[in-house]
Amino acid sequence: MWFLKKLCTSNARLEGKTVVITGASSGIGKETARDFYGRGARVILACINMEEANEAVKDIKSNPPFRIKKDEYQNGAGELAIYFLNLCSLKSVKDCAKNLLMKEAAIHILVNNAGVVAISYEKTEDGIETTFQTNHLGHFLLTLLLLPKMQSSSPGCRIVNISSIGHIFGDIDFDDINLEKSYGPLKSYFQSKLANILFTRELARRLNKANVHGINVYSLHPGVMPTKVTRHASSTIFPGGSYAYKFVLWVLPWAFKTVEEGAQTTIYCSIDEKTANETGLYYSDCNIVNPRRKVTNDEYAKNLWDVSCKLLNLEPEENFTKFLQTVSRQI
Ligand SMILES: NC(=O)c1ccc[n+]([C@@H]2O[C@H](COP(=O)([O-])OP(=O)(O)OC[C@H]3O[C@@H](n4cnc5c(N)ncnc54)[C@H](OP(=O)(O)O)[C@@H]3O)[C@@H](O)[C@H]2O)c1
Repeated sequence: MWFLKKLCTSNARLEGKTVVITGASSGIGKETARDFYGRGARVILACINMEEANEAVKDIKSNPPFRIKKDEYQNGAGELAIYFLNLCSLKSVKDCAKNLLMKEAAIHILVNNAGVVAISYEKTEDGIETTFQTNHLGHFLLTLLLLPKMQSSSPGCRIVNISSIGHIFGDIDFDDINLEKSYGPLKSYFQSKLANILFTRELARRLNKANVHGINVYSLHPGVMPTKVTRHASSTIFPGGSYAYKFVLWVLPWAFKTVEEGAQTTIYCSIDEKTANETGLYYSDCNIVNPRRKVTNDEYAKNLWDVSCKLLNLEPEENFTKFLQTVSRQI
């Protein structure tokens, strides 16, 4: 199914641009980092596992993406840096943001990519359900903390949130956001991936209302591909769940993507000239697609924004500039 494997065809170069990618030590994040490095960017891998991040840096430096020859790659390459980030700890998110704000002269692209799927019920040290915090709330806070730096780096800045087609099965449980009464390993994942799209829409709306131009926001489904992300499925969904997933990918290879193909929509939203004037939208296979109808309900997106602020002890102030100043005082 060739149409499921559309590639980003942009030849954009990224010299002078700084990109932050969360969860870039493996999977889609690592392939996205490889592509941006090859285009000359300073690429920051914001990772929980420093050993794996160091291995990823070595691998990225030695192996080009499929569209570039090795000598071209090495001549045009940018820089790679690693920062520690544990999204399960709001303190770690604040520390990472603080380091980035202090050490980096600019941030032009933020890719909120890190994620967990189908884990067993746990709360973080902040008392929040782990999937919701890793996939949504930690990124929500990181984005707000980095926004002033992105504002001073604009125009041409982009924030890209990696969601999933699984959002169509999700609902935001506003009465039980931590899913204490009705946890399901996939339910929590679908809720968090729906949150990624709602956050994208609401952030784009608020930036526009506050006349902040030059920072566009995107959400996307990357496709389905074999990464480490399903590793918990055997213990939470059914015994052998993660192997069954890999088996299906193996017997139906035409329907699924390689990890490099899976990074293409992220790359498209982050750098392609065709998306430069778009914001607040949802993409799949390098195209705008309609998410589930509920996602286009502005009230629903606003409610998630308010709940996210409440969990972070922030007043959801309508004046966005004032709001960002309050958030910045958290670090
Ligand atoms: N693969 C698919 O078929 C698929 C489909 C739809 C959407 N997605 C989305 O694509 C994104 C990337 O996933 P992937 O498939 O590339 O899987 P992956 O290789 O497992 O990448 C996820 C990354 O997030 C990191 N991470 C997990 N918890 C973290 C935390 N608390 N703090 C910081 N980083 C953390 C992981 O680090 P460790 O491994 O060291 O914990 C890993 O590097 C996810 O948002 C996922 O929901 C994937």
